Amino acid sequence: MRFGAPHRHYRVTDSTNDRARELVEAGAPGGTVVTAREQTEGRGRQGRVWTAPEGKALLYSAILRPLDERHLLLPLSVPLAVCAAAEELRPNVRCQVKWPNDVWLEEHKLSGILIEAKPQDGWAVIGIGLNLTIAPGEFPADLRHPAVSLYGTATEARGKPRRSLPAVAPEGLPPSLPSAAAAALSRQLDRWVEASDEEVLVEWRRRDAMRGREISWDEGKSSGVADGIDDRGNLVVALAAGGSAVLGSGEVQIRL
Ligand code: BTN
Repeated sequence: MRFGAPHRHYRVTDSTNDRARELVEAGAPGGTVVTAREQTEGRGRQGRVWTAPEGKALLYSAILRPLDERHLLLPLSVPLAVCAAAEELRPNVRCQVKWPNDVWLEEHKLSGILIEAKPQDGWAVIGIGLNLTIAPGEFPADLRHPAVSLYGTATEARGKPRRSLPAVAPEGLPPSLPSAAAAALSRQLDRWVEASDEEVLVEWRRRDAMRGREISWDEGKSSGVADGIDDRGNLVVALAAGGSAVLGSGEVQIRL
């Protein structure tokens, strides 16, 4: 299965994940991709809203079918594909992953991933939002994590300007940037969705932004130090009292 064909593009739609889901139910093949220039009801994880100004983010949903036991680490392999695609587009950047499946660039959230699956029917919709040219002032003020664009001007990280990513004038970018980004992402999904568990775990650990960082979960009631992932993709946390906790899903906060 290869991602990117057929490819349906909308100027505006409510959510590319919803369009992809309709296509799945209508029998669309694995590899089908839906993109949009704008979403009116973009969805994030945990019931949150995902917004992006028109034409300034890649809004991408892909159908994975058949979904089977080879894809148990899918939530880890998709952010690896996004990292690789981002670095293909801008070779001077280095992306990291934040468990369970955010992509970070210099401590800021570059991309969010919403995977919606029906394993009993053998499919998943992989939804990806990748910030391309959203200016710092265009992100919603109430974001849980500070956000950044791949071709962004410097944003403020805890009051300090980010210096190592040179600003790129969005006006200088080709209008075809979202389609170049979609093509890079499809290529990298081909690679990472089919990768072995071993390859995924090695690459995830190489890109892990959380290891050694103090984190909290359960609405701040529990905390510890992130100690990497186990071979099933669970997050291992070293506890202050000794021993460790294993987190299987949900939200963790890095203490900034
Ligand atoms: C998150 O970080 O909460 C996940 C955000 C996922 C957003 C993408 S944009 C394309 C696709 N369509 C949606 O409605 N959501 C995903």
